[in-house]
Amino acid sequence: MAKYFPGIFILLCLVNPFLSAEVPSVTTALGTITGETKRVIFQKKTYDVDRYLGIPYARPPTGELRFKKPQPYGPFVEAYSATKFGLSCLQSFLIPILPAENTSEDCLFLNIYVPRQEPDQPSGHAIMFFIHGGAFLMGSGKIYDGGVLSSVGNVIVVTINYRLGLLGFLDIDNEKSSGNFGLFDQRLALQWVNENIGAFGGDKDRVTIFGESAGSVSVSLQMMFPQNEELFRSGISESGAIMLPGLYQENNIEVAKYHAEIMNCNVEDMDEVFSCLHSATPEIINKAVSDAVASDSMTTIVKLRIVPTIDGEFIKTNPADLFRKAVAEDCEEINFFRTRKLMNGVNGKEGAMLLLSLGPDNLDELEITREQMNTLQIPGALALVYGQRTVPEVVKQLLIAEYTDWKNPDDPKTIREELMRLFGDINFNVPAIEMSRIHSNASDVDSYLYNFVPVLDKHIFPAPNWINMSNHGDELGPVFGYNIDFEALLNISDYTPPEWELKLSERMMAYWTNFAKTGDPNKPVSDAVSSVVWPKYDVTSQSYIKIDREDSVGQYLFARETDFWKNSLSAVFDATEHVQTITSQYGSKDEQTCEKDGTCG
Ligand SMILES: *[C@@H]1O[C@H](CO)[C@@H](O)[C@H](O)[C@H]1NC(C)=O
Ligand SMILES: *[C@@H]1O[C@H](CO)[C@@H](O)[C@H](O)[C@H]1NC(C)=O
Ligand SMILES: *[C@@H]1O[C@H](CO)[C@@H](O)[C@H](O)[C@H]1NC(C)=O
Ligand SMILES: *[C@@H]1O[C@H](CO)[C@@H](O)[C@H](O)[C@H]1NC(C)=O
Repeated sequence: MAKYFPGIFILLCLVNPFLSAEVPSVTTALGTITGETKRVIFQKKTYDVDRYLGIPYARPPTGELRFKKPQPYGPFVEAYSATKFGLSCLQSFLIPILPAENTSEDCLFLNIYVPRQEPDQPSGHAIMFFIHGGAFLMGSGKIYDGGVLSSVGNVIVVTINYRLGLLGFLDIDNEKSSGNFGLFDQRLALQWVNENIGAFGGDKDRVTIFGESAGSVSVSLQMMFPQNEELFRSGISESGAIMLPGLYQENNIEVAKYHAEIMNCNVEDMDEVFSCLHSATPEIINKAVSDAVASDSMTTIVKLRIVPTIDGEFIKTNPADLFRKAVAEDCEEINFFRTRKLMNGVNGKEGAMLLLSLGPDNLDELEITREQMNTLQIPGALALVYGQRTVPEVVKQLLIAEYTDWKNPDDPKTIREELMRLFGDINFNVPAIEMSRIHSNASDVDSYLYNFVPVLDKHIFPAPNWINMSNHGDELGPVFGYNIDFEALLNISDYTPPEWELKLSERMMAYWTNFAKTGDPNKPVSDAVSSVVWPKYDVTSQSYIKIDREDSVGQYLFARETDFWKNSLSAVFDATEHVQTITSQYGSKDEQTCEKDGTCG
């Protein structure tokens, strides 16, 4: 633990938020690490938090180490000064907040925020390890400042960078580049925490991983990787379940070729594609991305998408198959998942963000015609969920019926609302419920579910003004005590949210850090912040908490939608496919009717 003299601090604080006179310093097995103390304010209370920024946890993944699993950084030669964020990883999609000059291939750093209060347990502070989102293509740990969460919640917060896009996930189906490096980076950072966090006053037996969007998918992937046994005991998944449709491919050879092509390399031969990508400088990679995005941003994000694959090592089996298998038989990944406590949730209108794919400029006036819905959006959704399978007409009709407001079926404004619901259900809501069900069924370990719905003063990501619940990402502000980089994200300096949001934030930080400390979001901080007891989730009661201006308890969140997608629609799909097989076998003239078990009359 850092040595400090509170008296001196109080004096210095009056003049300088950075208390440089007494530098916090810890001695780890890797050497001494010095940080800085920062003063943060939340709800008029001030806190001092020690932070250690930009600690390298892996050797730079450059040169021969590009497209390889990360290697531990090892010991420091001299005392390591951890007072500046490390550079962010190369972004595989352009975002103004992380311009190319602020990124680097040498980016495997972590940041640690340590509160000054006594820990809640003699064994040390609980640890919250954050995995940022950004579609596995974008983002950085430094956007999410752990200072307030750490201070108010009295936990250690760790944020990390991990490799993204091409450099993080290239999988060409051979040992030259086998993919999922970004997931191995996350894991190596967790191992670093496991080995060294004790020196910072942390209790390595109380690590909770949490993440949003792709960070949340990462949380669920880490929770299904049995070799992580020692590394954490619980996970928080915010808006991103493992079963994101269309996410997992066997490799990303096609996307690799697309990258090589825009770098003017020969794409006929995979060895040449590999050498091209392996020797490309970061400048060339960045230029390829920016040229591609400039030409056509929305379709390009799909072409540039190099994300986790079924590499046979980190992900052995497509999670969809795992989930199906787990209902009937034992499987190692799900067994491991069921030994970690889970807090899982989605926001009110997750689908709003995906409306951006329809053209980001006219979201407020967006209208969708019946024609567009039926001939473009519904088939698109089915293609996403069912991939290459030919979708029978009856399945399409069922889907149209389900996502129609029958009081007003042809109003372009109700249709846009239904489209948003469709996007939300497929990509977030149904996968989240499926994951909570799998986790809690036949399991002794606690599972919690939330739905975060309030419309906040500011959305983190662009959203149409007509949505009446929270968008994707909106819970991040309250979870971090509004200490995320609003200037970078929204071009607002010194953002102060309305008072009710600060109260909401106080409750959410209590739920989140309670869960990290005790495994129960209601303990130890309860009545003072929330009057509601958040019940456990199980497949029978299906209880959850609805987080709003006033929190409340609900049941059966997205139960109808989950049944529709997982049971009704699939059953119709399978039955129709079966009838088609039989009729093509026996000739369709006979007009036979066949049962699902194959008997035909
Ligand atoms: C990029 O880095 C420079 C130097 O650290 C900093 O001044 C600048 O604000 C950064 N830009 C962004 C958009 O973060
Ligand atoms: C729970 O598990 C049982 C037994 O494995 C299975 O029959 C049932 O379908 C599962 N329920 C849900 C909701 O997944
Ligand atoms: C939001 O809008 C939808 C569709 O118009 C409506 O059904 C729902 O009740 C509204 N919810 C809230 C919280 O206002
Ligand atoms: C940020 O806001 C300032 C002042 O409101 C404005 O001048 C500037 O153009 C904005 N920057 C961006 C990138 O929108």
